[in-house]
Amino acid sequence: MRETWVAGAATNRYGKMAETGREAGSRVALEAIRSAGLEPKEIDLTFVANAFGIAEHQAHVGPLVNTALGIPEVPSATIESACSSSSAALHEAYVHVAGGFADAVLVVGFEKLSHLDTLAATSYFAIGADYPYEAHNGATFPGLYALMANAHAQRYGTSEAELGAVAVKNHANGALNPHAHFQKPISPEIYRASPVVASPLRLYDCCPFSDGAAAVVVTARERFPHPAAEPLVVRASVRAGSIGDIQDRSTLTALPATRRAAERAFRTAGIEAGRIGFFEVHDCFTIAELIALEDLGLFPPGAAGRATVDGITAHDGAHPVNPSGGLKAKGHPVSATGVGQVVEIFEQVNQRAGGRQVPRTETALAHNVGATGSSCSVHIFGRR
Ligand SMILES: CC(C)(COP(=O)(O)OP(=O)(O)OC[C@H]1O[C@@H](n2cnc3c(N)ncnc32)[C@H](O)[C@@H]1OP(=O)(O)O)[C@@H](O)C(=O)NCCC(=O)NCCS
Repeated sequence: MRETWVAGAATNRYGKMAETGREAGSRVALEAIRSAGLEPKEIDLTFVANAFGIAEHQAHVGPLVNTALGIPEVPSATIESACSSSSAALHEAYVHVAGGFADAVLVVGFEKLSHLDTLAATSYFAIGADYPYEAHNGATFPGLYALMANAHAQRYGTSEAELGAVAVKNHANGALNPHAHFQKPISPEIYRASPVVASPLRLYDCCPFSDGAAAVVVTARERFPHPAAEPLVVRASVRAGSIGDIQDRSTLTALPATRRAAERAFRTAGIEAGRIGFFEVHDCFTIAELIALEDLGLFPPGAAGRATVDGITAHDGAHPVNPSGGLKAKGHPVSATGVGQVVEIFEQVNQRAGGRQVPRTETALAHNVGATGSSCSVHIFGRR
């Protein structure tokens, strides 16, 4: 296996894009390539993540992105794994570079749904769940994660104040991130006054529908030893799966795919959760952040809520979680989200995160989940 780096990264501001997904993706991809000190002609392969391209009547978008970059001869493929599409694409890039099949791979994820109303966007997203059993019977993602929040509350006593602390923290971080969809802090009072979407989840427990694009460039150290910025050394790139539908699961208070991926990733990287400098985790709903931190082993089951209330996961706390603002405040443009987490890690490692800069950047972990947790990617990065 060759030493493999994330040598370049770029994102746009999440929220509502005037451009098409393809235009934004191509622009951000070029920025990522340049930030690695490379030119498009040095890219061997492109992986694109764009799970809901159908909303823009566009499939097979890889050749169009490569054409915009001036490299139409370069092969490409679109990777779909719901909300974990671009971290799955990143894993494929890692496999190609570490295995010696390519020296420089572009990974770009983008999504545009802001031209749809909430009902239409919710219906599109629901096809990422088990359509005949869940979506067809009216289950939506807020509803499915509300089931997990209720189960977690019954088992561990997880309170409204604990869920709210996740929202308040991530909005505070988002307010310091010029790329975030929401750049406004909220108070616990604003959280408590927000309308219920799917009990117990309120408006501020939910990620928004965001447009956005993010890209990274994965390179082999031996071929490109002098990157333009401090690269992220990929110490582990692991994917895992678990039961796709909710009704066949034996627990709703944990996501086994995260546990599997994390266990292998920590073993591969030779590190444990408590020694990771900071985390970008998949907080599509506040309960998802708590479950993620417990599944990753940072806190025992049922203890992440209390830790959040105590400020341990704040960007200046002992274990910073989602300094970017997370999906909750930075936003969740589905297929940009996974590589967007890595862009944040790249910015933090290069000391470019401004007011949300975390103190320890020697190691960082990105955790990205598809749908209700049936797919999961965990990446651990280190420094040279
Ligand atoms: C929570 C949700 C239902 C709100 O939708 P909505 O009620 O139609 O809200 P609107 O789009 O009409 O926006 C109303 C206001 O709330 C804000 N808002 C919308 N969603 C928000 C969110 N998740 N958090 C904070 N504010 C939000 C809007 O910016 C807008 O503010 P403004 O009035 O100041 O402009 C919707 O964002 C949602 O379904 N989110 C989850 C998406 C999802 O399931 N993703 C997949 C995860 S696996």
